[in-house]
Amino acid sequence: MTVAMARTTAGVYDRLFRPGQVHRDLYVDPQLFELEMRDLFGRTWVYVGHETEIPKPNDFVTRNLGRRPIILCRTTAGEIAVLINRCPHRGAVVCRSARGNAGGFTCGYHAWSFANDGRCAGLPLRHAYGEGFRLRDHDMARPARVASYRGFVFASMIADVPPLDEHLAGARRYIDQWLDRDDRKPVLVNNGVMRFRTHANWKTVYDNAGDGYHPPFSHESMLRVFAARYGDVDMKYFTADVDDSAMEAIDLGNGHTMLDQRPAMHAVSAWERQHVMPGREILEQRLFERFGAERGRQMLDASTGSGMNLNIFPNLLIIGNQVQRVDPLAVDETVIDWFSTSLAGAPDEINAARMRLQEDFPSFGEVDDSANFEACQAGLALVPELEWVDISRHLTTGRGRRGADGLWHEPVTSDRHMRAYFEAWKALMDAGSAARLREGGGR
Ligand code: FES
Ligand SMILES: [Fe+2]
Repeated sequence: MTVAMARTTAGVYDRLFRPGQVHRDLYVDPQLFELEMRDLFGRTWVYVGHETEIPKPNDFVTRNLGRRPIILCRTTAGEIAVLINRCPHRGAVVCRSARGNAGGFTCGYHAWSFANDGRCAGLPLRHAYGEGFRLRDHDMARPARVASYRGFVFASMIADVPPLDEHLAGARRYIDQWLDRDDRKPVLVNNGVMRFRTHANWKTVYDNAGDGYHPPFSHESMLRVFAARYGDVDMKYFTADVDDSAMEAIDLGNGHTMLDQRPAMHAVSAWERQHVMPGREILEQRLFERFGAERGRQMLDASTGSGMNLNIFPNLLIIGNQVQRVDPLAVDETVIDWFSTSLAGAPDEINAARMRLQEDFPSFGEVDDSANFEACQAGLALVPELEWVDISRHLTTGRGRRGADGLWHEPVTSDRHMRAYFEAWKALMDAGSAARLREGGGR
């Protein structure tokens, strides 16, 4: 794949797709990765962070937007702002801290300084730029669009994108359900982050988040240890023929999908099925004393993982009680940040239980998944003669159906989630090459 091809050939990406298969280049071609960063992450809504990560004026975190360094901050006036973290002078990354609280940012190179809404506030020895020099021509740049959906902040490098609500399509109702689980108490993304760096393509991570086929096999040792020690525990329901269960995969439009474990996970008390954890008995006892057994149990059931794996294309995963950002660094290197959450106004016992449960899966399960991400990358990269990857589960079984909600539902092990986002991938990438051709721009 070359840029020259993209300029002259419509449907240049057709060669990467066959019914039920995708080409290995999608996971291993560095040039294609560069084009993704330009035409996909540069031309759609990308998840930046949650407003509750920066609750106070002047709070900020630094992030990537498809590798572009950005700052997500709350300005001194209390507005949410996203700045491109690149100095308008010589291009240096201005803010080099992961997070903090600051009324502005000063570049470490020649000390140009900027307010936290991006306005250029001053620079040393200004006289040498002559009389026509105006500070306002040297503000930090911003993405063309920034919008929030119930606290989830997204940014787009181009203005020509649909409104965020429209882009989120069928995912909105599931974000609502996730946020409103326990008595509509606000969810706070304020409990730190568990970071994994994996030598795999970012899409492998995205594929896995919606994969209802792998749990009993990839996580076999985890489930075996849990079962031996604690009996019938969380996720055990994946060990039967889950395609005959009420769990399902749902296509939400625009590449977003939902793997819904709730019919199994919350069929009986999800709290009861959690295995032992530090402080479990005392948490339970205190809640029952304060709220009674019935309400206490309800609160504890709602403190467990949500039973939802919500993939919001291209880089937001809402899984269990956690929010994940998928950050591509290179064609074969990805950072996965698991942000843990708490509930505003909930009893301390509930937030303690949530925290213990949120430590559980990434610690015991993500390591299995990461091993498989890297095994996929190795197999795909090292065997160029074998070009195709299978994404055909339930493509031909006729088990899909249009639900009363207007959305497409399939059995939970379906690869529909991959087919759905690759369709969105192709539409965005085609539009990106066409735009570059029109604009006559290069790389
Ligand atoms: S590069 Fe930032 S002040 Fe010179
Ligand atoms: Fe997994």
